[in-house]
Amino acid sequence: MAAWTNQLQDYERDGFLVLRDFVAPTTCDELRLRAEELVQEFDPAGVISIFTTHEQSRVTDDYFLESADKIRFFFEEDAFFPNGTLKQSKEQSINKIGHALHTLDPVFRAFSHSSEVRKLVADLAIADPRLAQSMYIFKQPKIGGEVGCHQDSTFLYTEPTDIAGLWLALEDATINNGCLWAIPGGHRLGLKSRWVRAPEGGMRFDVFDSEPWPEEQLQPLEVAKGTLILLHGLLPHKSLANRSTKSRHAYTLHVISGKSRYAPENWLQPRSDSGGFARL
Ligand code: FE2
Repeated sequence: MAAWTNQLQDYERDGFLVLRDFVAPTTCDELRLRAEELVQEFDPAGVISIFTTHEQSRVTDDYFLESADKIRFFFEEDAFFPNGTLKQSKEQSINKIGHALHTLDPVFRAFSHSSEVRKLVADLAIADPRLAQSMYIFKQPKIGGEVGCHQDSTFLYTEPTDIAGLWLALEDATINNGCLWAIPGGHRLGLKSRWVRAPEGGMRFDVFDSEPWPEEQLQPLEVAKGTLILLHGLLPHKSLANRSTKSRHAYTLHVISGKSRYAPENWLQPRSDSGGFARL
């Protein structure tokens, strides 16, 4: 208990916490295998939705905005030839799967509601914890795209801003294959922007602070397979492109409190008939 108290203090100080050996390598392998099956079953014909944080307008298509309660597949930006055909196999081209693996897929649902996850969230004392979204991120060899410095609360805004991101390394994450980088203590810098649904349709950024991030303070979080990184919703973090020959798979969950006010302008909304986000 004392150890956890110290860790919680570290989390509150830094805005992130690295939990080594959170799960066994076999658990990582089960999740990887299931993602592989899902990709094999996926028919990419007609689905060209490229995820990139550099060009948000390109992701504000219906395929993305309607994925809150679905299992959908998003491609790497560099996956296509100019004529729109894939440069390599679909297995080597997908950026991520989102955003309801935790409710719709039995394997990911079981992990997302596992005793390890429940205990961690209970230790964080998040009141009435809800799983808002899940993502399987591939960070493909050679073409895995950069994700620019951001705060998750920009996309999942709650009042208070008490969301926690759970980022599980399913493979070793290194500087070479695009590990996370974070600004220690950066969660105290305030929320810089919100990504909100515009009344006229589509999405827009509401910017509160246009100062660039002090990216010289970013530190790499190189972690071994099975490590879970806990991320405060306000923590600035990023990952660089993967130009190596090794993939960097990760599974992420975002936990919010059912007691917080969840912004109706957020892109991600629970189905109106679902009673809100999934209870943990
Ligand atoms: Fe993030």
